[in-house]
Amino acid sequence: MKRIAIVLISGFLLFSWMGRAEASPIKRCDKITKICRIFTHETLWDGYKLFRSNCKSCHYRGNKKHAKFLYTESKVRKGWNRVFDERYTPCAKDGSWGKLTGEQLARINDYLFKNAADTYDPYDATDCG
Ligand code: HEC
Repeated sequence: MKRIAIVLISGFLLFSWMGRAEASPIKRCDKITKICRIFTHETLWDGYKLFRSNCKSCHYRGNKKHAKFLYTESKVRKGWNRVFDERYTPCAKDGSWGKLTGEQLARINDYLFKNAADTYDPYDATDCG
């Protein structure tokens, strides 16, 4: 009986520990569409590819287009949401985002948000489950 309890408790501890390791966000509430988007591998992968093929066509390291090098950790979660909610950047205003649909931009936003700077903080209560 005691042994079963120990097995159950260690199983529970292992499970909670695994939960901690995946503390990055699983969803993002979008201000424009007012929908909370639950991340899936498919949408995140798509966001990654769209970011690479569109945004990174200018924002790569050492480019001559005067675009800053950008990667997921260039901004914290809130910062990325502001970029897409307010579309304040020169490139959003001059039509460089024009080919992308609202859903495609939301997927790029999801991918950047999910992997943003300071996403995982083991000392932050909200990251513990
Ligand atoms: C045609 C080239 C081009 C494309 C494509 C492009 N950008 Fe830009 N972007 C620029 C330039 C030029 C600036 C102004 C200089 C700067 O701040 O990097 C800029 C500025 C920015 C900034 C402000 C940088 C900062 O933190 O101060 C962000 C954020 C940004 N772009 C994000 C994006 C995202 C996200 C995409 C894809 C949806 C994208 N850009 C696509 C050229 C581009």
